Amino acid sequence: MHILGIETSCDETAAAVVRRDAAGRGEILSNVVLSQTQDHAPYGGVVPEIAARAHIDHLDRLVAQAMKQAGLSFAELDGVAATAGPGLLGGLLVGLTTAKAIALGHGKPLLAVNHLEGHALTARLLGQVEFPYLLLLISGGHTQFQIVAGVGRYHRLGSTIDDALGEAFDKVAKLVGLGYPGGPQVEAFARRGNPQRFAFPRPLKGRKDCNFSFSGLKTAVREAVKGLGVLSEQDVADVCASFEAAVADTMADRLAMAAQAFRAAHPDVARPPLIVAGGVAANQKLKAVFEDAAARHGLALIVPPARLCTDNAAMIAWAGAERLILGLTDDLGVAARARWPLDQAQAPVYGAGKLGAKA
Ligand code: KG4
Ligand code: ZN
Repeated sequence: MHILGIETSCDETAAAVVRRDAAGRGEILSNVVLSQTQDHAPYGGVVPEIAARAHIDHLDRLVAQAMKQAGLSFAELDGVAATAGPGLLGGLLVGLTTAKAIALGHGKPLLAVNHLEGHALTARLLGQVEFPYLLLLISGGHTQFQIVAGVGRYHRLGSTIDDALGEAFDKVAKLVGLGYPGGPQVEAFARRGNPQRFAFPRPLKGRKDCNFSFSGLKTAVREAVKGLGVLSEQDVADVCASFEAAVADTMADRLAMAAQAFRAAHPDVARPPLIVAGGVAANQKLKAVFEDAAARHGLALIVPPARLCTDNAAMIAWAGAERLILGLTDDLGVAARARWPLDQAQAPVYGAGKLGAKA
């Protein structure tokens, strides 16, 4: 089975072709990603209108490139998958409409994929990971724990009640005068800093649930920066290191709760896989925390390579393949959705109150 995938939910324009064999093994035949970081950098964040226009400018060319690299014609595809949400509506419309046109023109099934399902199923593209498993998704837009019980079967254990983790990294970067996206730069400066210089809060540490909160931590960083006046390079490094240490501590605590919750739900799984996805998974300090947590709680850690952790179309094509096998195709009237929780059918997370768009 060969599936074309298209991803345009945020600031990456991406197209990919994946193959799924009869045994369920995946192979990436092409995976092209065009990042718009340069277009948005002057504004310190993603500008939706600029993103949508850039997707229009580049998508057709990237799709042609992905097909050429895969050595396939549209007629040889078994389905066309595109991210239908959640994300920025303008961009989603560009990708989904393009997929509809290809599907209609060539008589192929359409697969309207939830972007989060793409992240959730990536591990199965890379190897034979069996359901159920524990997913930690940490990106610029989302921060959540999910039990992945099957394709389309998700149970949210917890999520952020305010900012996403990647967003917190980006905001801290801005506070200390580093550019966008901030995560990699905060990490680089943190390496040279003193993680003990500032005693930042460890949000929700000790709470008996699996939620996250980062806005209080961000406010503490803002106050510390204000108190310093003009920042020296060392000040920036120390703020970054102290922030990262607070995040690492919190993450270790939250992972302990999630491991416990997973075991309570699936006591029969001897060594549950822990999959970490999203751009923040690239952070080396946090990777050490994941490794430690996996060893401590008996989990089998899988962190996909960075190019598959961050937004890409191979994960969308693969989620499409997993859905097509189950007959979960969509008709051409399917709409793009700015908000689309993965665990749609589920009641709100216990104790989290009203969840924001980042949940
Ligand atoms: O998954 P992603 O590429 O895009 C979405 O948000 O969907 O994640 C991007 C986020 C940004 O907030 C970026 O600052 C953060 O991931 N990030 C990092 C690192 N690399 C990327 N955060 C911390 N450490 C990093 N090394
Ligand atoms: Zn993403």
